[in-house]
Amino acid sequence: MFTELPWTCPLTGRPLAPAPPAAMPGLSWPPAADALLVTEGPDPIGYPVVDGVPILTVEAARGRAVPPSPVEAGRHEEIREEVDIYDRLAAADRARITHARRRLLGRRLDQLARRGALPGPFPDPPGVWVDSVGSADTQEAAYRHLAPLTETRFLQLGGSGSHAVKALLAGAECAGVLTPSFEEVQLGRALADSFGVGHRFFGVVAIGELIPLADGALDRVYGGGCLHHTAIEHSVPALARVLAPEGRAAFVDPLQNPIYRAWTGLAGRRARFCGDEEGTHDHPLDLDALRALAGRHFAGAEVYASGGPLRYGVVFAARALNLAPRPRTAARLFRAERAALDRLGLQRLYGNFALLLTR
Ligand SMILES: C[S@@+](CC[C@H](N)C(=O)[O-])C[C@H]1O[C@@H](n2cnc3c(N)ncnc32)[C@H](O)[C@@H]1O
Repeated sequence: MFTELPWTCPLTGRPLAPAPPAAMPGLSWPPAADALLVTEGPDPIGYPVVDGVPILTVEAARGRAVPPSPVEAGRHEEIREEVDIYDRLAAADRARITHARRRLLGRRLDQLARRGALPGPFPDPPGVWVDSVGSADTQEAAYRHLAPLTETRFLQLGGSGSHAVKALLAGAECAGVLTPSFEEVQLGRALADSFGVGHRFFGVVAIGELIPLADGALDRVYGGGCLHHTAIEHSVPALARVLAPEGRAAFVDPLQNPIYRAWTGLAGRRARFCGDEEGTHDHPLDLDALRALAGRHFAGAEVYASGGPLRYGVVFAARALNLAPRPRTAARLFRAERAALDRLGLQRLYGNFALLLTR
């Protein structure tokens, strides 16, 4: 499946073509590399393909003339540090795939897909398609922006691949996940296989700052809680480049606000999520800067922001006490809270947003 996508070298943008490892002798490839992707033309640069997954990272590039990365060295270092955490969490989920299906895609969707009775069109009814409790209304806004998904080429930026699997269930032609974590790709593939859509799923180990796909290769991109893990001055232009004309992207991310600042001030960075991703580096997004940047690269760039003290209460109850409302109930609560905060002029308390982009 990976061979059908227009992969490009993340460092030069040159097209990549499949080749056997023997095509670039004398270089150190991972022992598990079953093939390579190699730039066409002089001074070739090669990347390994491991278990059918292209590893299109700066670290994996081999050749006589590998140029330096345009992304700062410190950013690459942070990503390398985080990957161990993502790998560990994804491997644990893959080991319990039945449980992971329900947790990552939602119990209702899991049950209906098992019976072959998924309602539609995506994302209706949202009670089936929306899985996030803490971002229930923002995820719904993002999904509505991306619909319809029928016959689209869909990429999930970062994460487990669960949204790519939903896109396949909703009729996408192909869908996959781009993540710096090999284990997340494997988890995405295991999820896709378990829903019977693995033949249309693809995965790539890469970063959002250097998306290794040709211009206009995609119709839809979604990221949940991932854009703020990228350096947006690189990832936003890269996203615009890989989307076809009129293509759409949507991202759901947390917002820096006074409640978050007070909480991290009290509890420290390591306790900020009350969850599993402690120790990762996130880069809280400045909404004005993000809007301005997105406005320069996209024809449409809208923001739907919501979630204040009530949302933090719901996230805390879900993560620390295992008491979560259904996403549909959470969405209603957050919309009511949003209306109240709007009336009181307290929009600065919003802690979550959906960025809705149109090429
Ligand atoms: C807090 S997790 C969010 C997981 C997500 N909610 C999901 O759907 O599974 C952050 C994610 O950011 C992704 N990530 C981190 N750095 C990245 C980068 N530079 N480019 C793309 N994705 C990145 C990782 O794949 C990781 O799963």
